[in-house]
Amino acid sequence: MITSDKTPENSNQRDAKTRSLWQENAQRIATASSEESVTSELFDVVVVGAGITGLTTALLLQEAGLRCVITEAKNPGFGATGGTTSHINTMLDTSYDIIERDFGLDNARLVAAATMESIALIYNNVKKYKIDCDFSFRDGYLFAEDEAEAQSLKEIFAASKRVGVDVEEADHLPIPLSYQSVIVFKNQAQIDPIKYINGLFNAFIAAGGLFIANNKVEETKLEDGVHTLRCTRLNLRARKIVYATHIPPGINILHLRCAPYRSYVLAVQLEEGCPDELVYDMKDPYHYFRSHEMGGKKYLILGGEDHKTGHSEPAESFAALEQYLQKHFRVRSIDYRWSAQFYESADGLPYIGELPSADKGIYTATGFSGNGITWGSFSGLLLKDILLENDSPFSNLFAPARLKPVAGFKEFVRENADVAYRYIADRVKISKLDSVSSLASDSGTVVKYEDKKVAVYKDSGGGIHALDPVCTHAGCIVKWNGTEKSWDCPCHGGRFDIDGKVLTGPPRKDLQKLDIKE
Ligand code: FES
Repeated sequence: MITSDKTPENSNQRDAKTRSLWQENAQRIATASSEESVTSELFDVVVVGAGITGLTTALLLQEAGLRCVITEAKNPGFGATGGTTSHINTMLDTSYDIIERDFGLDNARLVAAATMESIALIYNNVKKYKIDCDFSFRDGYLFAEDEAEAQSLKEIFAASKRVGVDVEEADHLPIPLSYQSVIVFKNQAQIDPIKYINGLFNAFIAAGGLFIANNKVEETKLEDGVHTLRCTRLNLRARKIVYATHIPPGINILHLRCAPYRSYVLAVQLEEGCPDELVYDMKDPYHYFRSHEMGGKKYLILGGEDHKTGHSEPAESFAALEQYLQKHFRVRSIDYRWSAQFYESADGLPYIGELPSADKGIYTATGFSGNGITWGSFSGLLLKDILLENDSPFSNLFAPARLKPVAGFKEFVRENADVAYRYIADRVKISKLDSVSSLASDSGTVVKYEDKKVAVYKDSGGGIHALDPVCTHAGCIVKWNGTEKSWDCPCHGGRFDIDGKVLTGPPRKDLQKLDIKE
């Protein structure tokens, strides 16, 4: 059963103004009637969020015999899944030489096995549920452009072999860039992520699962082993909760262990030579390539120019990516430009399992870096085992409560030093004294206004939308994102629309609207 307070004209919206290629595939959500039974029923599991992680987890649990409901603040794929480029890999952002150094060879082998289970799960789901999502296996090329990169590529190659990943040395690159050395990871994969989660969604409903759209969780309470979820529309009760929200909401230690980044993507038509393979360079941040056919057109999908959320100008990242594209390819047209968010964990591995410092029976999965579809799918497998209390060789390795004082320690300190700076400095330092009148239309900024900091957006008609810029999560000052027309928090990646409504991230409450009198 599916419930929604309305039938959206096009329910395939996402948390951004730029439009991704995948948003061409709209799914309509039907209105259902028996909402009373939803609020009175005691579910085994409430899954919060209908992206890759939520839908994979809910389907596996429902099919294992648990009574599941998914509650989603907006529509399926509204968050990261709607903006991913959906590379599915055994090759990870955190390379196996680093994982082996920090976690040991046995654990690095487990990580590799987890990626293979993830790919197998997606492949099997596509077959089992006959999901038409353009799934295909592709080789993934990683290439070095100079001596230092070539040395590091050697180490990645050797470690990848040791952990059991299918990888070979290669003598060519399927894109027109110069290289010193190349390795190729066999049997990587790609999908259209929205078509894929639509398939999972239909399978979940067919298995008797329940879905509620436009129903944001505002608060939860545990009493006598039962969680009560206060939501914007329909309250729910369950024995267990899974937060599949990219990063769990509220204040949690995971917000100090995960740093939010934004990545930029172009989908373009080339005059010639669009590669079929997946390709990655070794820059920091790196560029990533794949192709996709849609509506009779073949697109090169190029991503990169990542930066920490709220720490750089999105327009500059798009410009740099476009410059890189034009330098290396003969471009016929740039058809899509979009950006999306991801979270990097302190030690390079995702956190999957029971949420630390929270009520018992609350679970989450986060910190996927640039491997969202791979880790989101694997999270479903691991969370199923954890919730069913099955033994799993993976549960300790990925446990959110793990303590790794050495691995990623430097980055951990750096990220949190930055957060600490924001907490103090942004609250006392007035960095801009721009007046509202000088603000260009359809843009925003934080200004000093009547001795207060105010987040001001001027719409195209000259109307002023003013908000308290103090993030409702932990008090940082939000920054204007002119590309996505959103207020982004530089601390933990909370994002708000021009009216202050939460788009994504850990904040539960909207930014406060301010009434400006003339
Ligand atoms: Fe944590 Fe804004 S997201 S302070």
